[in-house]
Amino acid sequence: MEIKTVGVIGAGQMGNGIAHVCALAGLDVLLNDLDEGRVTAGLATINGNMMRQVAKELISEADRKAALERIRPAVGLEALRPSDIVIEAATENEQVKRSIFTALCPVLRPETIIASNTSSISITRLAASTDRPERFIGIHFMNPVPLMQLVELIRGIATEDPTFEASKALIDKLGKVTTVAEDFPAFIVNRILLPMINEAIYTLYEGVGSVDAIDTAMRLGANHPMGPLQLADFIGLDTCLSVMQVLHDGLADTKYRPCPLLVKYVEAGWLGRKTKRGFYDYRGEQPIPTR
Ligand SMILES: NC(=O)c1ccc[n+]([C@@H]2O[C@H](COP(=O)([O-])OP(=O)(O)OC[C@H]3O[C@@H](n4cnc5c(N)ncnc54)[C@H](O)[C@@H]3O)[C@@H](O)[C@H]2O)c1
Repeated sequence: MEIKTVGVIGAGQMGNGIAHVCALAGLDVLLNDLDEGRVTAGLATINGNMMRQVAKELISEADRKAALERIRPAVGLEALRPSDIVIEAATENEQVKRSIFTALCPVLRPETIIASNTSSISITRLAASTDRPERFIGIHFMNPVPLMQLVELIRGIATEDPTFEASKALIDKLGKVTTVAEDFPAFIVNRILLPMINEAIYTLYEGVGSVDAIDTAMRLGANHPMGPLQLADFIGLDTCLSVMQVLHDGLADTKYRPCPLLVKYVEAGWLGRKTKRGFYDYRGEQPIPTR
């Protein structure tokens, strides 16, 4: 089955990135979020990001225009019916995702594939909340989607080969590299990355170093392109906490206990870049450490 129309649920940082790369690859995109305002904001972000790509001569002005025209706002899940695949990139919360799938399945054609961009939640369990576990798969893009090469592909227990093949062909069409992960909590990238970020937050919590000291140490001492706290702000602290909770619940090992300081930041609504405050304050010209 060839994928020509992609529905995207969630126009946040991942959803708008997924819509962006699909449209540039020549696919028609239907972009959905809770309300029209959020879809419009997502489209504005896509346009801004594409303008940057034009300025860097990565794409032409004609590419930008054509790609933007391929993305249509889809208000209400019914508008996603023409999709050959729907990629869910809503908030990292199992209940939110399950209720989306419950409402989505009856409006889709039976052959439409459903994929989740979840960072950590069991694909098998999410698939079980749909009417088509054999046509359900995890397609885990990395942030920021237009820049990052890798996509993790995760089969649930019931995922059938044609679903896997069609999803792999889609990732190939986007010019990205697929890595296959088994359906265990947080898959490969986040199973390794998030405990490191959580440990960096413990290092801050225990006063071993300041935000600046920890990030500088890992950038210059481990040659990471960005510090772990800067990366946490970039991912979103709510998403980081959710992934740690999934690891903790799913693997029942205390080494995955989310740091209380991470919990506190999330409770404060300091979620990182997307709310302009996290381990850094982004409201001024330069990010300023908040600790
Ligand atoms: N942030 C990352 O680095 C990253 C990387 C890979 C995967 N992911 C995953 O991608 C997903 C989205 O993360 P994000 O960083 O884009 O979050 P985000 O907060 O930027 O965006 C989430 C969007 O989902 C929308 N939403 C919530 N409930 C909805 C519903 N019922 N129907 C439609 N839209 C709804 C929100 O309005 C918001 O626009 C999560 O599953 C996350 O784990 C995130």
